[in-house]
Amino acid sequence: MTGQPVRIGVVGGGLMGKELLALTRRWDALVDHPSRPEVVALADPSPGVQQWWRQAGVATVTDDYRLLLDDPGIDVLYLAVPHDVHERLYLDAVSARKDFLGEKPFGIDLGAATRIVAAIDDSDCFVRVSSELPFFPGAQRAAGLVRDGVLGEVLEVRSGLLHSSDLDRDKPGNWKRRKATCGEIGVMGDLGMHAAHLPLRLGWMPRTVYALLDDVVRTRPGADGAPVPCDTWDNAVLALTVDVPDRRFPMLWETKRIAPGQSNTWFFEAYGMDGGVRFSTRSPQTLQRFGMVDGEQAWSEVQPGHRSVWPTVTGAIFEFGFPDALLQMWAVFLGERAGRLEGGFGTATPHEALASHRVFAAALRSHDTGTAVELPA
Ligand SMILES: NC(=O)c1ccc[n+]([C@@H]2O[C@H](COP(=O)([O-])OP(=O)(O)OC[C@H]3O[C@@H](n4cnc5c(N)ncnc54)[C@H](O)[C@@H]3O)[C@@H](O)[C@H]2O)c1
Repeated sequence: MTGQPVRIGVVGGGLMGKELLALTRRWDALVDHPSRPEVVALADPSPGVQQWWRQAGVATVTDDYRLLLDDPGIDVLYLAVPHDVHERLYLDAVSARKDFLGEKPFGIDLGAATRIVAAIDDSDCFVRVSSELPFFPGAQRAAGLVRDGVLGEVLEVRSGLLHSSDLDRDKPGNWKRRKATCGEIGVMGDLGMHAAHLPLRLGWMPRTVYALLDDVVRTRPGADGAPVPCDTWDNAVLALTVDVPDRRFPMLWETKRIAPGQSNTWFFEAYGMDGGVRFSTRSPQTLQRFGMVDGEQAWSEVQPGHRSVWPTVTGAIFEFGFPDALLQMWAVFLGERAGRLEGGFGTATPHEALASHRVFAAALRSHDTGTAVELPA
């Protein structure tokens, strides 16, 4: 098989790190990719996690991420650690002149994100931010239709990511449910980039932010079963406005850990005077499109098939799923790094992550003051 070898070091081998290892072993699904990634090293302090990676056959397993940063044989890093570790690790990776894919939210807060992005801008590192869900073919088709102008004058945009596993009050507490490790922005740090990526890419930067934040479950069982504080926002609904000539249109970003009935639903909807699009990963094989047909209002259903940003050997009639979206994100990240994206939809950028942090910081101010907060033009 062809492709320039790319040796990847993973820092943080939990939920997301394991996904990367799995997808690199499915790389032959991609057609004519210029790179051939191999995960060669893991840094993670957890003995249980280390054992999993050793059993998976990864050569170097350590608890010290410095060993990966200082290893000239490692070309690219994947940084997938709790949010309180982002700033130190991402800045260290830039100082070590490593290319990397950094997990969202890309710093625990706006200050951290600002410092990380400034360091990246001053470097020659190729850095992108993880956000895989817009790589679903239905999401790509929706974005393409918007770019082609099917909406006409924009009326309203909605996007979000909805979970419901936190409905279970007995679900153990973890770092994502504590401000100190997840951040003051809570669920917006966990899920906000998923809501923000596509609207920001389409040029819809919010000008005003009004936030509805809800902390529903205040304690959860800790490791020994005793209750531990759970002090982050569980649900956030951001009512935003976007400037267009002569008016502002409304945009809603929804990020919820407690959305009854939704397991991991990513959605994007955009409506305009001439047409509309809506896509949800709940019905991943169909995209709905609104338009006038013979003078009547009509919704139609489009099946985008397995048509991805980076072509694959998988037939277009087959279904696309979450692991495919992750494979696409990595294909695009490494394809762009190799100069081969050729105008395709790129992985989220550090500046998009920074823009999302500006909105989340404004959301906290909005909540504190009970008012809409204006962002600079
Ligand atoms: N893109 C997505 O869809 C998605 C989904 C879930 C999480 N995430 C993001 O991925 C990141 C990690 O989340 P996760 O769900 O994989 O968490 P996780 O808790 O499953 O894994 C994090 C791992 O980091 C390790 N770790 C902690 N401190 C470390 C350090 N100093 N050096 C090395 N390793 C360290 C932990 O031991 C743990 O194994 C977060 O930024 C999160 O927001 C992204």
